[in-house]
Amino acid sequence: MWRNTHDGYGLTARILHWLIALLFACQLPLGFLTQAAARDPALQFQLYQWHKSLGFLILMLALLRLFWWIVSIRPSPLPRTRRLERLAASAVHRLLLVLTVLIPLAGWAVVSASPLAIPSYVFNLVVVPNLPLAASDAAEAFWSRIHAVLAYGAGLLVIGHALAALQHHFLRHDDTLRRMIRSPHNRDTAN
Ligand code: HEM
Ligand code: HEM
Repeated sequence: MWRNTHDGYGLTARILHWLIALLFACQLPLGFLTQAAARDPALQFQLYQWHKSLGFLILMLALLRLFWWIVSIRPSPLPRTRRLERLAASAVHRLLLVLTVLIPLAGWAVVSASPLAIPSYVFNLVVVPNLPLAASDAAEAFWSRIHAVLAYGAGLLVIGHALAALQHHFLRHDDTLRRMIRSPHNRDTAN
């Protein structure tokens, strides 16, 4: 039930996939809004704290998922998928796995390198310490650029990834999307 089988994704991979997808979909516009709200410092501060809280949550879930992905078997490709398609899908999945770790790390670097030294209150519960980086305007601008490029780049990849899933479901009528939603019906032999 919890683990992947050769037929499909287990509950762990599916829960992590949709939870991270949902958080990621909120996090991109939230990151954009932190920039748009520059004229209202109080609102901007709140948006930043929410953005950092969700970001750290994504980082923890993404690390958990990466670990799970490494120790899990991968469901076999569905019949009638071409070799090039499989390679492209696998490359995009790997990139997304890595990006969901790298983007929050780059965001953490922005905050850590900022001379403003604003603490990160995660969900108003804990203060996450900064990374050991030298603070300067140039370092903050550097990490900020990296963070933005990776985040918007991942956004574009996700759009392609989601469109590919919808194409499989509605045009090719195969199980690609279904097996990321439902458990593999007959066997859960890996449990
Ligand atoms: C998957 C997680 C994350 C995503 C998708 C994301 C996305 C974004 C986006 C799209 C922006 C706007 C960039 C721009 O238009 O210039 C942004 C800004 C920002 N994010 Fe994140 N972020 C994530 C995690 C984090 C984390 C964990 C932190 C800090 C601990 C953080 C800190 C910041 C800061 C300080 C800014 C404003 C500075 C700047 O980059 O211009 N982010 N983020
Ligand atoms: C509406 C949005 C999304 C849809 C419809 C969707 C759909 C899917 C489907 C159907 C699969 C299985 C593909 C296969 O078996 O070949 C999959 C796998 C995957 N997706 Fe998504 N996805 C979405 C959003 C995202 C987001 C936002 C991320 C990451 C930021 C993501 C990362 C992944 C990864 C890494 C895999 C590989 C399997 C795993 O380890 O979970 N997806 N997705």
